[in-house]
Amino acid sequence: MPKVRGRTLRVLYSADEIAARNLALAGEIAAAGYTDLLVVSVLKGSFVFAADLIRALHGAGLAPEVEFISLSSYQAGTTSSGKVKLVRDIESDVRGRDVLLIDDILESGRTLAFARDLMLKRGARRVGVAILLEKPGKLAQEIKADHVGFIVPDLFVVGYGMDVGHAFRELPYVGVVETAKTARAGVRGSRVRKRVAWVRRDAAESRRKSRGRAGYRSRREP
Ligand code: IMP
Ligand code: MG
Repeated sequence: MPKVRGRTLRVLYSADEIAARNLALAGEIAAAGYTDLLVVSVLKGSFVFAADLIRALHGAGLAPEVEFISLSSYQAGTTSSGKVKLVRDIESDVRGRDVLLIDDILESGRTLAFARDLMLKRGARRVGVAILLEKPGKLAQEIKADHVGFIVPDLFVVGYGMDVGHAFRELPYVGVVETAKTARAGVRGSRVRKRVAWVRRDAAESRRKSRGRAGYRSRREP
């Protein structure tokens, strides 16, 4: 297991697995029929995912415009403050346009619900949501992601842009920091591995099911 900052990391999704999933997601997004597409990366956590996904979108034949919005709900720790703050806004007018929000994790859904509602309030024609990770069972807001990379266990993950106190963003994989207790006992580790195996099966199943589904659910009908 890799060591970073003197801590042991348990890899949940390797760089190769993420790259393969990004290609699949790009194909899915290209097939979803977005027009005049503006991609909005929700900073900070999504910056690595967004950078890879937009290049995969190019490979899939799309030519989106790309913007950034900076929202904050987590403070410096690992629990949500429950409030979303607009730290830096996009510059583009979204009226009449299709917007694809890209974020790292959908957990309570507060961040993405805030961004989606803001775009719809400003007159976006359609707002899609692409996320790298979904933590199931934690939603506090009515929001469904249209394009999901992986369904992840309920663990605090880092890497691939995601941080704890701004550290670990540089990791090319998604992982969890092992605690001294889990490393000593080794118990949680096997439980984590089992849960990850289960979650991967679940993700494959949900991808199979989603194939027949409409590409988005957040469109505001005219
Ligand atoms: P939500 O508003 O509760 O859905 O929280 C989403 C945001 O919280 C994500 O965009 C992340 O930036 C952050 N977040 C949630 N879970 C984690 C985690 O496990 N690791 C790192 N950041 C997280
Ligand atoms: Mg985020």
